[in-house]
Amino acid sequence: MKRIPIIIFTLLLCPPAAESATTNPDGKAVFEKNCSICHSITLPPKSAPPIVPVASIYHRQFTTKTAGVNHMVTFMKSPSKSASKVDPEAISRFGLMPAMELGDAELKAVAGWVWDQYNPNTGKGMGMGAGSGQSSDDCR
Ligand code: HEC
Repeated sequence: MKRIPIIIFTLLLCPPAAESATTNPDGKAVFEKNCSICHSITLPPKSAPPIVPVASIYHRQFTTKTAGVNHMVTFMKSPSKSASKVDPEAISRFGLMPAMELGDAELKAVAGWVWDQYNPNTGKGMGMGAGSGQSSDDCR
C-alpha cells in the first residue's frame, strides 16, 4: 500500500502518452490523439479554427476558466450553431464540429488545455509565436 502514492506521483510527472485512460488524462495528449487531425494550434488552420484564436474567443466570452471549460465540454458533446462561440463565418467555412465520443474526464482535460493556450502576450491570440513558454514537454 505504501508504494501507491509514489506510483501516482511518477505518473503525474510523466504521464504515459497514449494509454493513460485510467489515470487523470493529459489535455495535450487528448488533443494530439483526438483533435489535432482537424485543429492546428496556431495559424495556418487545418480543417477547423486553430486552437489559440479559439482560446482567446473563449477568454473574451467567459470570465472564469470553469465557465469556459464547462461550455466547451457541453459543446464538444453535441456541437450546435446556437452554442457556438466562434465567428459564424468559421462554421460556414469549416462546417460544424462533429460530436466527440470521449469521457467527461478527457473532455474536461482537453478543454482546460485549450483554455490555457490563450496567451495575452502574443498579439491578442492571433496565434503568432504561441507555444513558447510552455514547460509541460519535459517528459519527451
Ligand atoms: C473532424 C474535425 C474536428 C475534430 C476531430 C475536432 N474538431 Fe473542434 N472544431 C471543428 C470545426 C470544423 C470547428 C468550427 C465550427 C464549430 O465551432 O463547430 C470546431 C470548433 C471547435 C471549438 C470552438 C467551439 C465553438 O464555440 O464554436 C472548440 C473549443 C473545439 N473545436 C475543440 C476541439 C477539441 C478539444 C477537439 C478534440 C477533443 C476537437 N475540437 C476535435 C472540427 C473538429
